[in-house]
Amino acid sequence: MSFQRLLIRRSGAWAWHLSPVLPGLLLLTAPRGAAWAQDPSPAPASTLNGVYTEGQARKGESTFEKQCTACHVPAAITGLPFRKAWSGRTVGEFLELIRTTMPEDNPGKLSRGQYVDIIAYLLKLNGYPPGEKSLPADDGALQRIRIDTTSSGSGRTERRKDGKREET
Ligand code: HEC
Repeated sequence: MSFQRLLIRRSGAWAWHLSPVLPGLLLLTAPRGAAWAQDPSPAPASTLNGVYTEGQARKGESTFEKQCTACHVPAAITGLPFRKAWSGRTVGEFLELIRTTMPEDNPGKLSRGQYVDIIAYLLKLNGYPPGEKSLPADDGALQRIRIDTTSSGSGRTERRKDGKREET
């Protein structure tokens, strides 16, 4: 292309200065582009990020009281034993275990929705925060929610920066 050749020839010094800069620009933009491209399919959800609603946990609590407290105090399914057993596994696995083994005298007697609500309640008891979105009943979606522990591994309360203790 004669115009381009003309341009290069006439601004030879300019082109020479620019050429070492260009690869640098590409390096700068490439990783950003890649990070942006990942946004539509985010990393697996985490129980640390509000995966159930307050309403679900309340319903779960009343179901738990009717169906589970004959044999369990809630504290039996919280704290260190819970973290040891479930950290790094998925909410889907947790639901599946409870659904297929509990209540021990009649496993599977509750509806799937009732089990999901109980899971929401148990997440709350374990200090995980509620959020805007309901815990889904869909198994595939539940399998993508990982049960994470906070880095401090603390129980139901977190110390805030201002020193107050916050119920979580
Ligand atoms: C009739 C008594 C009984 C009822 C009712 C009952 N459970 Fe259990 N549950 C048990 C027993 C016994 C175990 C210990 C079983 C084992 O370790 O094999 C257990 C264990 C568990 C565990 C721990 C399982 C594990 O391996 O980590 C969970 C979670 C649990 N129950 C949840 C529930 C929930 C939720 C309900 C209500 C829907 C419920 N249970 C109702 C008797 C009961």
